[in-house]
Amino acid sequence: SKNIVVLISGRGSNFKAVYERSVQENWPEKYGVRISGVISNRPEAGGLTFAKENNIPFKVIDHKEYPTREAFEEELIKACEDFDADLIVLAGFMRVLTSLFVNAFEGRILNIHPALLPMFPGLHTHERALEAGIRIHGVTVHFVSAVLDGGAIVGQAAVPVLAGDTPDELAARVLKQEHILYPRAVRLVAEGRVRLENGRTIMDRGASQELAI
Ligand code: GAR
Repeated sequence: SKNIVVLISGRGSNFKAVYERSVQENWPEKYGVRISGVISNRPEAGGLTFAKENNIPFKVIDHKEYPTREAFEEELIKACEDFDADLIVLAGFMRVLTSLFVNAFEGRILNIHPALLPMFPGLHTHERALEAGIRIHGVTVHFVSAVLDGGAIVGQAAVPVLAGDTPDELAARVLKQEHILYPRAVRLVAEGRVRLENGRTIMDRGASQELAI
């Protein structure tokens, strides 16, 4: 069967959404796909509580304990290999990954980013969307490349920006869509129905329809 390893840094609501979908839809039986482990770079990440409560194997790799990015990533690679990772799912993982990690799992890393890429890569996307005055905002799931938030897009979902929105209100509207989109994208990639070839995302029409929200 195929193993998913989820990387988190905080609250872990996307991790929870993917896990709960995998239980509801019985991914292990139906698709031969399961979450084999969770890794957090922060010992206090809220998502770890959920992992404990649900007996999901987890590991903390605190980046502050490593002298360099390389040393941290070497440890991260080892931990992913220990969990027998076929697919790495970044879910609110707030460390930039270098080509060292990206090359170790080429075409097998997904990220969720709270904006409609290629608009607003990086941080503070909701503030920046409001500042720019755009009326449509959203979320993107993409394969991870060595370019920050620059890998091939797998799926997107849009939300309206409403008059008077605060960044938090807009973030909450986007997050609801994240929780729908990410489980679908993760399952389709784990199944091999969506994949990365020569830097581009390949999928059939059925998969693209499943991703259309
Ligand atoms: C989510 O909105 C995710 O899209 C974003 O952080 C939040 C994590 O929430 N990711 C990034 O900003 C990546 N740079 P969660 O921990 O509840 O899933």
